[in-house]
This record gives sequence, structure tokens and C-alpha cells, in this order.
Amino acid sequence: MSASVAVRVPAKVNVQLAVGAARPDGFHDLANVFLAVGLYDEVTVTPADELRVTCEGPDADQVPLDRTNLAARAAIVLAERRGLEPAVHVHIAKDIPVAGGMAGGSADGAGALLACDALWGTGASREELLDICAELGSDVPFSLVGGAALGTGRGEKLRVLDVGGTFHWVFAMAGRGLSTPAVFREFDRLGEGTVIPEPVASQPLLDALAKGDPDALAAAVSNDLQPAALSLFPELAGTLAAGRAAGALTALVSGSGPTTAFLARDPESAAEVAETLQASGTCRAVRTASGPAPGATVVRVSGA
Ligand code: C5P
Repeated sequence: MSASVAVRVPAKVNVQLAVGAARPDGFHDLANVFLAVGLYDEVTVTPADELRVTCEGPDADQVPLDRTNLAARAAIVLAERRGLEPAVHVHIAKDIPVAGGMAGGSADGAGALLACDALWGTGASREELLDICAELGSDVPFSLVGGAALGTGRGEKLRVLDVGGTFHWVFAMAGRGLSTPAVFREFDRLGEGTVIPEPVASQPLLDALAKGDPDALAAAVSNDLQPAALSLFPELAGTLAAGRAAGALTALVSGSGPTTAFLARDPESAAEVAETLQASGTCRAVRTASGPAPGATVVRVSGA
């Protein structure tokens, strides 16, 4: 048996997030176009006496280390399915913003699952891994798959999408987090008394991705959760405006927020937008990253 396995997992931005009405189970049907971007968490699992989670990185103090952490849950679910004890130390080197709408928690779930599968030699099929990911959370299957994909259902049913080029992004981290359930509740509240259409993927957006055309993508992006995120976090409007004024092709809230995402035409322009945003005082930190990026990948196996 190997002594430790490390898996690298990307963040995501939603280039389209179409949200339907609340379902009886409380979830919302989505047309969710995910693009993985090159900001990564690295999840390392090592045999231990009992399950333990540790985390390092600038936002590490905001990460729960108990069994609510999706990385811990992933180890527990896989172990239960195989009649094993989840006796591992899961260490997360965190670079993805926490509670930011960039699937950082989902990334750790997918990473721990792939790492435990390799560590324990459980040989789970891709289908079983995706099934466990969907059990862990709506965005977790995409963290495993990476690239670009259309998520339907609650976001967990994936169709892989073609991407014809590299898209350059700037991300602005906010001074505090936003809770995803709270943003969906605000979406419901804002939509009360209106008819909410079925969520459908935008064909111009899928075409823009397939062509690798940043101008066409900028014209087609949309996020139905953005009004709800702005309602709960009005200062984000200032960050979006600062990025647009800095020359971004488009600006939007990433998923349920509060991270905001800015599409740039090329790496030079992304660096300029990043610098201006950083100086604007409208956000806590700024990062650049391009996508698509690969999904969860084993990057190290160290021998026993
Ligand atoms: O699936 P996940 O645990 O990531 O979802 C977190 C929360 O986000 C859910 O409890 C629900 O409130 C909301 N959600 C939703 N519809 C979705 C996905 C998430 O309402 N399709």
C-alpha cells in the first residue's frame, strides 16, 4: 500500500448559471455551464489511526476540520462502501477562496475521494466515483471531471463541452463569504409571485466556448444568482464596476458569490485588470487564472 497520495483539483467559474424554481426537495434545477480554472487545492491523504483533517493556506482558518468538511465526507462514504475504516489524515493545501462560489469545498471532496481510492486500492470505476461525488454535493462531480461541462438536474448531471481556446480570467475575492443556501433562498424570495422559466443552456454561449472566442463568451455569460448575491452583498456592485472600468470584457459574480469574475481578452489585459482592481480598494485580494483546467488529478504517490 502507498504511504501517501496527493491530488490536485481546480476551482471553477460558472459562465452560465440558469436557475429554475425551487423543487419539492428544496434544490433548484439548473443549466449550469462550468469552466474549470487554474487555481488549485492539493489534497494529500496518508494512513492514520483515525480520520483527521488539516488545512494550510491564507484562508485555512475558515475551513471546517470536522466531518462536515467534504473531504472528510468523501473518505467516509468511500470507506463505508468498501467496509473499511476511514483511517486517514487528509491534508488540504488551500489556494481556492473559501465560501467564494468557486467550488473550493467541492474540489476538496473530489480530491479526497480520488486520493483515498488510490491509497486504498479500491479501484472504483469512473461511474462510481461520479456517483459518490453527486452524493457529496451538486458541484462535486464537476470538480472531478474539470475542463468545461454543462450540469443539469441540480448541477450534478454532466455533459462534457468542447472548448476551442484558453480563456483568461481575473478573480476578485471579497472581504467575507456568502452561504450558498442563503443565496438560493434570496433567489426564491426575489422571485416570489413571478413565473420562473425552465433553465436552458444558451447556444450562443456554448458556441463561444467551442470557438474559444472571448468576445462572444463575454456577450453570452449570465448568472441568475447574481441579483440575489448583490442583494445580500451590495458592495459587490462596486467591484464589478471597477473591473469593467479597468477594461474587462465582462464582469459577473462567480456562482453564488461573493467572488467576482472578470474575463479578459489575453494574459496582458488580465494582468492590467488585476492590477487596477487590486488598487481600487473594492476587494480583499485579486488572482488571475485561465481555463479550461484539468479535473482532479493524482500528482504524487509516495511509497510506503
Ligand atoms: O449540493 P450542495 O450541497 O452543494 O448545495 C448546497 C445548497 O445550495 C443546497 O442545500 C441548496 O440550498 C442550494 N442548492 C440549490 N439548488 C442546487 C444546488 C444547490 O438550491 N441545484
